[in-house]
Amino acid sequence: MIMNERIIGQVKRINGPVIEVMGITDAEMFELVWVGREHLIGELIKLDKDSAVIQVYEDTTGIAPYDPVYGAGMQLSVELGPGMVGTIYDGIQRPLETIREISDIYIQRGISVPSLNRGKKWHFVPTVKEGDTVFGGMVLGTVRETENVLHKILVPPKDHGILESLVSEGDYTVEDVIAVLRMKDSQQKTLFLMQRWPIRVQRPTKKRLAMDIPLITGQRVIDTLFPVAKGGTVCIPGGFGTGKTMTQQALAKWCDADIIIYIGCGERGNEITDVLTEFPKLVDPRSGRSLMERTILIANTSNMPVSAREASIYTGITMAEYFRDQGYHVAVMADSTSRWAEALRELSGRMEEMPAEEGFPAYLPTRVAEFYERAGSMETLSSDQGSVTIIGAVSPPGGDFSEPVTQHTKRFIRCFWALDRNLANARHYPAISWLESYSEYLGDIESWWSEQVGQEWLADRTEIMELLHKEVRLQQVVKLVGPDALPDSQRFVLEVCTLFKNAFLQQNAYDKIDTFSTIQKQAKMLHIIVTYSRRGSEAIRKGATLIKLRKMKVYQDIAKMKFTIHNEDLSGLDKIEARLERSMDQLEALHV
Ligand SMILES: Nc1ncnc2c1ncn2[C@@H]1O[C@H](COP(=O)(O)OP(=O)(O)O)[C@@H](O)[C@H]1O
Ligand SMILES: [Mg+2]
Repeated sequence: MIMNERIIGQVKRINGPVIEVMGITDAEMFELVWVGREHLIGELIKLDKDSAVIQVYEDTTGIAPYDPVYGAGMQLSVELGPGMVGTIYDGIQRPLETIREISDIYIQRGISVPSLNRGKKWHFVPTVKEGDTVFGGMVLGTVRETENVLHKILVPPKDHGILESLVSEGDYTVEDVIAVLRMKDSQQKTLFLMQRWPIRVQRPTKKRLAMDIPLITGQRVIDTLFPVAKGGTVCIPGGFGTGKTMTQQALAKWCDADIIIYIGCGERGNEITDVLTEFPKLVDPRSGRSLMERTILIANTSNMPVSAREASIYTGITMAEYFRDQGYHVAVMADSTSRWAEALRELSGRMEEMPAEEGFPAYLPTRVAEFYERAGSMETLSSDQGSVTIIGAVSPPGGDFSEPVTQHTKRFIRCFWALDRNLANARHYPAISWLESYSEYLGDIESWWSEQVGQEWLADRTEIMELLHKEVRLQQVVKLVGPDALPDSQRFVLEVCTLFKNAFLQQNAYDKIDTFSTIQKQAKMLHIIVTYSRRGSEAIRKGATLIKLRKMKVYQDIAKMKFTIHNEDLSGLDKIEARLERSMDQLEALHV
């Protein structure tokens, strides 16, 4: 817990958040530093023999040459321990509410607030005993942090040895010593409910595991057509107003992760305010409790410099890894990584680095890759299983996906939910394009799906995807020669696709029933539409007309089923399916 503050140099030149330092004595790369008498927080990001470059996470107005620069003797780190869940942090893990209480409306500069509450006592229940040999990542005990989150207190990753002492069950602050470890070299190490970890360094695990369980989101177009595995990586690219934030928020609400880390990264001020005011009010549909009880928010307020935005991504992912190491499934939403990349660009420009495509630094792809690499399904150091799923929104200028951030991101993710401007304009939400989007996880998770909802699922999904692609070709014909030129069998394909888009793909986030569909509901809905398609084409082959198929009474039930059938009682869907089969039997009977 001790920081060795010392002077490491003096300010030479100030360029916004970027400060050159001269007369460096000893300092380390990525060291946490304080600048000037106000102690503005910064990080050392470039180190030469006797000079260095610092990025400062606060407004640098008033800093002057020869001001002292202090080093903290440790890298820019996050505090990990009870008290994170439900908190709203800024990009370098300062708790925004506590800061607001101290500094009125504007965040005072140089304000020093610990990330974790120092006074609060947590009830710690040990699960090991004195004399035990423990190793990095092992669980020492637990703290019930919220109703939803049992916080496991872990031995810091690099430590191992014999537990010389351990407190008994009771209430402790994050700074109370809970254990003393006798290490191999017979040195002692004190352990606390909290630990620190440098944000730019991946936390270690034993190994990567296969990703064969989907992250269920309750969003039909995602779960059924473009599923993501727990531990997977997703990119949501979309122009302004196409639904990136809505999609991220729907996932934050509904997905079946244990912990949600939502990084509001440099989007317009009012969007972040929305998140800050909306989220605490939201209720977890499963537990009936506030969603904040499993959520950590990171918000970059507009009065913070771009450097904090650059750091926020790493702050968030490090917290995610820490919960993963406890054996939890964590979902990280970053909205938007384009703003993060723009922060990189601005900082790089101020450092006078050679720009690459569209002014972004040449290391943009490396940074994007490093970020997404921190996702994964892992065997933890304590041989448990945990995962970090990353869902990053990208906001390409003008909605043009050929720009560098979208293109580079695409190289490192395996699931792509492309938001389509035309769909959004037509108020088809979620505006996820079924033609441009893809998921490379399908093969990994299909057996999970089949086990849950039956073997038919995969065949149904394949069939509907084929129809959606067939529709594109048919639409081209229609454009040239009009719909009348198509035979009924082909016009019926168009009919089925329209039904599928309206009755299945469109999902209203504001409708109480429709906002979330269980996988069972999704599978049954899909099967009903595919059955309508299969039996309908059969009927047409036998001579039935399109009009008759369209006029079936059950057609209206199918069109409305997403709104009428509750997740808790799917018997209504079975009835619709039975009615559909009967109607088709009757229709076919007319044409034998
Ligand atoms: N699933 C949805 N259901 C209903 N409305 C939606 C949905 N997705 C997006 N919208 C509408 O689109 C608007 C813009 O979405 P938003 O997520 O803010 O876009 P972006 O973040 O891409 O700029 C929302 O205010 C909402 O009216
Ligand atoms: Mg948005």
